[in-house]
Amino acid sequence: MSRSIIDITSPDVRSYSILIGTGIGQKIAETISQEAAGMRVAVITDSGVRAILGEQFLRALKTAGLSAEIFEFRAGEESKNQDTITALQHALLEKRYGRDTLIVALGGGVVGDVAGFVAATYLRGVPWINVPTTLLAMVDSAIGGKVGIDTPYGKNTIGAFWMPRAVLMEIEYLSQLPAKEILNGLFEAVKTFFTSDKDSLALVERLDPAHPAEDLANLAQIVEASVRIKEGITKRDLREESERKIINFGHTIGHAIELLSRYKLPHGYSIAWGMLVEAKISELLGHLSEGDSRLIFATLSRLGIQSADFPSFNPEEIIEATKGDKKVRGGKPHYVLLERIGSVYVKDGLYAHPVDDEVVKRALQSL
Ligand SMILES: NC(=O)c1ccc[n+]([C@@H]2O[C@H](COP(=O)([O-])OP(=O)(O)OC[C@H]3O[C@@H](n4cnc5c(N)ncnc54)[C@H](O)[C@@H]3O)[C@@H](O)[C@H]2O)c1
Repeated sequence: MSRSIIDITSPDVRSYSILIGTGIGQKIAETISQEAAGMRVAVITDSGVRAILGEQFLRALKTAGLSAEIFEFRAGEESKNQDTITALQHALLEKRYGRDTLIVALGGGVVGDVAGFVAATYLRGVPWINVPTTLLAMVDSAIGGKVGIDTPYGKNTIGAFWMPRAVLMEIEYLSQLPAKEILNGLFEAVKTFFTSDKDSLALVERLDPAHPAEDLANLAQIVEASVRIKEGITKRDLREESERKIINFGHTIGHAIELLSRYKLPHGYSIAWGMLVEAKISELLGHLSEGDSRLIFATLSRLGIQSADFPSFNPEEIIEATKGDKKVRGGKPHYVLLERIGSVYVKDGLYAHPVDDEVVKRALQSL
């Protein structure tokens, strides 16, 4: 058993701990049990996670002296909507869960976003603990307190900032995750390293893209490096008014592609394509060197993202789809641009910038 603890304290955020480790399933159950003293525990999960981890999770809670009830919804991004939220809220109300409720999210980014949003809104807000089970959730979505759902108008267009009491990560859960899901999460970690930490790209290079879950120790290091960077950014800018915008590198184009694919393309893959385009935009605008741009293309190509396979949407429809994005200011979508690998372009204290449609179009056509 190995583990590391990152304590989050900031004037804006109620302090909480992030526990990352391998073989710490029982420790996670004990931590939940301590937090749950005098409370009723509702575990929210999806059908996929329940089938794989549900019983073992409940057993560990039981060993830790806690009885909990599972509330499940159908796995998949299509479930991240108002209907699922209403169904879960009503199921809790039906069973008379009161203000003494502790919600535990057990699952990937979809479960975390949904369960966290239920926690933020149930009886005007109850505490929650996040137990992320996908790489994407560990390196990214479980950190920073953003919760919410999609609407026909776009991804994550309804939501809240609602900090968990703890984020508890068992790296061993990743051993059952299909390679495609590992890569999906790896793209968010790669994004963090492109914007903030060139050195950690060496960890990504060590992974075998065909069998990424084989080296759990390396994955644990990738998780820890990503978490440390993201929690630092979150602490400095909880509400995404300045620096936190950099987590959106690749996301203006990525979200547009995801929307156009009607969410059939997974989030991580969508932002990987988005990073290719946004690196090219950075290069066309003269912020990023050709050499760094080439390195970004090579890193993503090794992980299966090649410009020749770019999703078959035309540039005009992609540009149009960017205009419904949350990052639109004054009618113009904004982009996070790189000035080198590990560092973003900042101008006048701003971390995201409007870009002419013509430049975006050239970048898209260059792929
Ligand atoms: N809140 C944020 O800050 C933030 C940041 C990034 C992404 N997100 C959101 O995260 C979501 C994507 O998350 P995701 O990629 O984790 O998808 P997901 O939650 O849909 O999980 C993917 C699939 O893996 C299954 N699964 C989960 N854990 C497993 C395990 N250990 N073993 C085997 N199968 C497992 C799930 O049942 C599901 O079918 C998107 O909705 C995205 O918008 C949120």
